[in-house]
Amino acid sequence: MSELLKKVNISIEEIPGLGTFVVVPKGLEQVIVDTTSISGVDPKGENTLYRGYTIEDLGMNADFYEAAYLISYGALPTEEEYKEYRKKIDYWRTRVPEKLFDALKILPQTHPMYYGAYGVTLLGQIYAPEWRIDKDTLYDHQIRLIAQLPVIFAAAYNLAHHGTYLRPDGELSHAHDVLRMITMREPSELEVRAFESSLVLYMDHGFNASTFTVRVVGSTLSDMYSAVAAGIAALKGPLHGGANEEAMKMFLEVKKIASEKGVPMEELIVEYIKDKLAKKERIMGFGHRIYKIKDPRTDVAIEFVRKLKDGETWYKVLKNAERVMWEVKKIPSNIDLYTAILYYQLGIPIPMYTPVFASSRVVGWTSHYIEQVLNNKLIRPVEKYIGPSGLKYQPMSHRRK
Ligand SMILES: CC(C)(COP(=O)(O)OP(=O)(O)OC[C@H]1O[C@@H](n2cnc3c(N)ncnc32)[C@H](O)[C@@H]1OP(=O)(O)O)[C@@H](O)C(=O)NCCC(=O)NCCS
Repeated sequence: MSELLKKVNISIEEIPGLGTFVVVPKGLEQVIVDTTSISGVDPKGENTLYRGYTIEDLGMNADFYEAAYLISYGALPTEEEYKEYRKKIDYWRTRVPEKLFDALKILPQTHPMYYGAYGVTLLGQIYAPEWRIDKDTLYDHQIRLIAQLPVIFAAAYNLAHHGTYLRPDGELSHAHDVLRMITMREPSELEVRAFESSLVLYMDHGFNASTFTVRVVGSTLSDMYSAVAAGIAALKGPLHGGANEEAMKMFLEVKKIASEKGVPMEELIVEYIKDKLAKKERIMGFGHRIYKIKDPRTDVAIEFVRKLKDGETWYKVLKNAERVMWEVKKIPSNIDLYTAILYYQLGIPIPMYTPVFASSRVVGWTSHYIEQVLNNKLIRPVEKYIGPSGLKYQPMSHRRK
């Protein structure tokens, strides 16, 4: 036992007067903090499952409503359940309160993840000024959040950048309408399917940083809207959701240098990555806390990248980038490397990549919130204080200069 604990860097400590404590590694690496039946790595450690189904299976075959229903309620919907669920999502997408649109009109051009956190807390004030944990009500709020978060992102971004926005259209499918509202143009059928598949791939992923954040907030019995706002804040970081934006900035830099030098992008990427690694820089879109060999979601995304604009060129760029990262660092790519290109091909503005991720992950966040609050225990770890002790308050005149 003690050998095993040492292997994962865990120790047991006695703090006199307080009790016995488990000391876990920084970043909670290799630490299982709770159980969930929503999503997670399968028992063989090869794949990630949503309620028992592999992410690839769903990414290739399920639409937005089916995957969201599965994650929220635990089973794929029957035809009747599907129709009812779809109707609700499409209804609520078109019912964003007018005063919320008004509040979005005053926002400056900042990162749109701010718009999401702001909009969601306004929604909370409108829909749930008093919060009660009641099972049926929780699912109603979940549907509103799933339906309306992408509308907030799209409207706020386009208002800030173009002074106008597209109203939601309840006749269109959720994925179609969201892509249309973001890009302000009519997408093709293939583009809608590619976008929808990426939403399914992003929908949930175990106890990732933003989901864990949502669960921590939920565990205080704060409301679902506040918990989602906290999830948005966590996802914004470049080590989490923000990686897809950073990866695309890298690709655009490579594209620019390649055209200046008159060499193909797929060749230049190799030299570019080697150079960055030599300077000890991180390459965004690579590495993962769980996947050390392969991120299974990339297999689905590549299918769509290849079919969209300049697909074969981007395919070669991606494969060469992966090859050199593996040769030098033995680090695999992650989904963000692929969605970066996919969203570029779809004409989505770069700052909207992480908001798109959030518009999908809101399904997972709200499902985890519900799972947490219905079987709650306050999440409150214990720190190991290593600062000074025994100091006494000094009046200002006695303090060091
Ligand atoms: C996701 C991530 C934070 C996971 O990190 P982690 O499990 O905590 O692993 P660490 O950050 O401790 O990295 C372990 C080693 O791999 C290296 N590494 C990890 N990701 C790397 C990357 N993207 N580029 C270069 N080196 C990387 C680290 O430098 C470190 O090397 P060292 O041991 O020589 O110092 C990390 O891989 C990363 O920063 N990736 C880039 C951001 C990204 O794409 N995020 C999206 C994840 S889905």
